Amino acid sequence: MKIAIAGGTGLVGSKVVAKVRAAGHEPVVIARSHGTNLITGEGLLEALRDCRAMIDVSNVVTTRKKVSIEFFSRATATLLRAARQADVDHLVTLSIVGCDAVDLGYYFGKRVSSRRGMCRGRSCAPRSSLSSRNPCWRRSRRSR
Ligand SMILES: NC(=O)c1ccc[n+]([C@@H]2O[C@H](COP(=O)([O-])OP(=O)(O)OC[C@H]3O[C@@H](n4cnc5c(N)ncnc54)[C@H](OP(=O)(O)O)[C@@H]3O)[C@@H](O)[C@H]2O)c1
Repeated sequence: MKIAIAGGTGLVGSKVVAKVRAAGHEPVVIARSHGTNLITGEGLLEALRDCRAMIDVSNVVTTRKKVSIEFFSRATATLLRAARQADVDHLVTLSIVGCDAVDLGYYFGKRVSSRRGMCRGRSCAPRSSLSSRNPCWRRSRRSR
């Protein structure tokens, strides 16, 4: 089946694309470098055509709360709207272990994206949120 991967060119996304392909599915990469923009919505509906699921591993590189909240709010809202219009059955997002408990600027945006539901109006698709640790955080704990 066709699976859209938002952020499919990134550190995590490129690995997800490889896994999806190895599992016999067809990955559809969503990234500005592939002509799709999560902020403006450019190219998104076309990219999602015939996709049954979407994995969101998009990102903004920032430590600033305002920038992070703006990016994840807008990107998540655009993705959810497009997914509903394109009849995508399931959305998986990647969160970060502990981001609800630690008040780092970047984490405020992650909270927004993992809390937003896909269930609005008449169309209601299941949504899953997975949490992963940041490897940099793991390394810094080990080195203590
Ligand atoms: N890396 C980790 O250790 C880790 C751990 C836990 C959770 N996570 C979560 O996993 C996600 C991915 O992290 P990452 O480190 O892989 O990020 P990354 O390497 O910075 O990749 C970001 C991806 O998002 C795309 N992107 C950015 N702005 C976009 C826009 N406006 N429209 C469309 N695509 C856009 C980028 O492609 P273009 O630049 O071509 O647009 C790129 O593919 C994040 O949400 C992060 O919080 C990461």
